[in-house]
Amino acid sequence: MLLCTVNSNAPIGIFDSGYGGLTVFRSIKEKLPQYDYIYLGDNARAPYGNRSFETVHEYTLECVQWFFKMGCPLVILACNTASAKALRTIQQNDLPKINPNNRVLGVIRPTAEIIGSFSKTKKVGVLGTKGTILSESYPIEIHHFSPGVKVYQQACPMFVPLIENGEYESEAADYFVKKYLGELLVQDNDIDTILLACTHYPLLMKKMKQQLPEHIQIIAQGANVANSLDEYLQRHPEMKTSLSKNQTTQFFTTDDVNDFEEHATVFFGEKVHAMHLSLH
Ligand code: DGL
Repeated sequence: MLLCTVNSNAPIGIFDSGYGGLTVFRSIKEKLPQYDYIYLGDNARAPYGNRSFETVHEYTLECVQWFFKMGCPLVILACNTASAKALRTIQQNDLPKINPNNRVLGVIRPTAEIIGSFSKTKKVGVLGTKGTILSESYPIEIHHFSPGVKVYQQACPMFVPLIENGEYESEAADYFVKKYLGELLVQDNDIDTILLACTHYPLLMKKMKQQLPEHIQIIAQGANVANSLDEYLQRHPEMKTSLSKNQTTQFFTTDDVNDFEEHATVFFGEKVHAMHLSLH
């Protein structure tokens, strides 16, 4: 007799410091609707962007361990800051000790793999949090896949606080979009592609487009991360078959549930019902 051991509760975990990961989750769910998902926004401790490596690692690992307790065999860090500062340590040092069969994936590598192909001038601008930019993860990874591409970076420390506080359509947002785009483009006139290397930034896409000449394209990460997850699951049938497929979605936040539901709807594009998670 053949025994089937597929777990009926093995969702994919999607993590971000706050709301930003919802822009990636939206694309993942569109592409792969058959799976179960748990989203966690660590809003109570967001933004992560200016925090030290040690702190981002500690917070991210704590959340990853919670996902494992919730039954997730696979966790996506839908946060560039956590991917830049915590992913490698989690993959190399923590996972082998905590749960060698589980997997944690980030958003930097799948983006770095393809971004060079978008640029005709081979000059790419990267906007991210201070943590992501200072980590140099993007220039290193992009050069690995596209050695001929020049990468220019700009940290945008005010973007996440503005977005987390619902100020992404305000005049203050206009001011900082102009300031950071100006500081990026002054580095080279030929930049023709701007990568939003922070999952919060798509909320400012409209404002950025208003301020940029038409020949400069802006690339967000969602669709590409979703494609890359799909390919990963094709390459790893053992992971693919271990995931449960009941099409359920649960949202958790470490901060206020009502606030989360209100903002999350804008990021996710549909109504969100959330639960509170206390990590302490
Ligand atoms: N969405 C996160 C990212 O992609 C924002 C980080 C933060 O909390 O500052 O980097």
